[in-house]
Amino acid sequence: MKIPLCRPSISNNEIKLVAKSLKSSWLTHGPFNIKFEQLFNKKFKTRYSIAMNSCTSALECAVKSLGVKGEIIIPSFTWVSTANAIINCGSKPVFADVDYKTRNIDLNSIKKCVTKKTVAIIVVHFAGLPCDMNKIIKFCKKKNIKIIEDSAETLGAKIGNKFTGSFGIGCFSFFPTKNITTTEGGMLTTNNKNVYNYVKKLIAHGIDKKIKTNFWYRVAVLPGHNFRMPNHLAAIGYLQLKKIEKFNKRRNQIAGIYNSELSKINHKIYTPFIPKGYTHSYQMYTITVSKKIRNKLLNYLKKHNIEASAHFDPPLHSQKYLKKYNKINLPVTNKLSKEIITLPIFPDMTKKEVFYVIKTFKKFFR
Ligand SMILES: Cc1ncc(COP(=O)(O)O)c(C=O)c1O
Repeated sequence: MKIPLCRPSISNNEIKLVAKSLKSSWLTHGPFNIKFEQLFNKKFKTRYSIAMNSCTSALECAVKSLGVKGEIIIPSFTWVSTANAIINCGSKPVFADVDYKTRNIDLNSIKKCVTKKTVAIIVVHFAGLPCDMNKIIKFCKKKNIKIIEDSAETLGAKIGNKFTGSFGIGCFSFFPTKNITTTEGGMLTTNNKNVYNYVKKLIAHGIDKKIKTNFWYRVAVLPGHNFRMPNHLAAIGYLQLKKIEKFNKRRNQIAGIYNSELSKINHKIYTPFIPKGYTHSYQMYTITVSKKIRNKLLNYLKKHNIEASAHFDPPLHSQKYLKKYNKINLPVTNKLSKEIITLPIFPDMTKKEVFYVIKTFKKFFR
């Protein structure tokens, strides 16, 4: 048996709708973008959503929409996109540490990173668990620091009734391993009309469609990008989004099985922790094991055809080109990056596949 880290759930309906969209000969952004964005607003209670070609692009748009350059605090325990978006917009990332249990950015560490140059924080909701937004928002309001949410890993997760991506400017990913996919793709969410109007122009060559002149005369008002999502990919996203509750329910069921079975092993394994009132979207299922056995265990799983991984090793402050941005000690990130293991999880994972992973995993400890 071969178990991938993730197998996307693409049904015949998605395939048919892509074919229909292609046959319509409308190949760039179009009616399905609007449907996808409207459904996104409705499901996650945000005022505006803008579909685009990746979460990395959404992060760049969010950073540019701040309108100022400076220092932006992020966890080191994340994917490189979070830092790259900042640097590519002419600002500087500053790395904060994370909490061991939640693996999310730690407010005490954020406090150590704040300087007069701090303009924003990008929180990263790790693996599908929301950050402690209530405390972070309270702190940022006092310090006049803007909040961007790297929500790449957390579609459909919430604190109480409030979904991630609706606390600040939300940036989602639809890469194949994510909670829904459009192959490549991303979404920016905001409740701010100015941010919405700015990003709409930014992703489409800086053209201001509201300036009406002759039909051929397009007025560019800023140096924009082409970050648009094409219509046929938005069609996939629209159908995938209709199934998000079902997908996340199954991810939670699988996580539940992993939690109870792995806790029976005679080794200190930390399974995911969920604070009271939070939901988890389990884009990834991660555990920690002793750093003495982590690498050996990953190699063992690979040998047994289980595509496990380690998110995130190396952490950002250990990447050569990012080292110069590091200002403080990050002991928890250093520890986690050597202990973390990501196990396969995806909605179509069968019971047989889940138990193959568990059985193989348990054998390692015998
Ligand atoms: C935390 C985080 N941020 C950003 C990204 C980038 O997403 P995309 O591949 O859609 O640009 C990812 C994807 O792996 C991610 O996990």
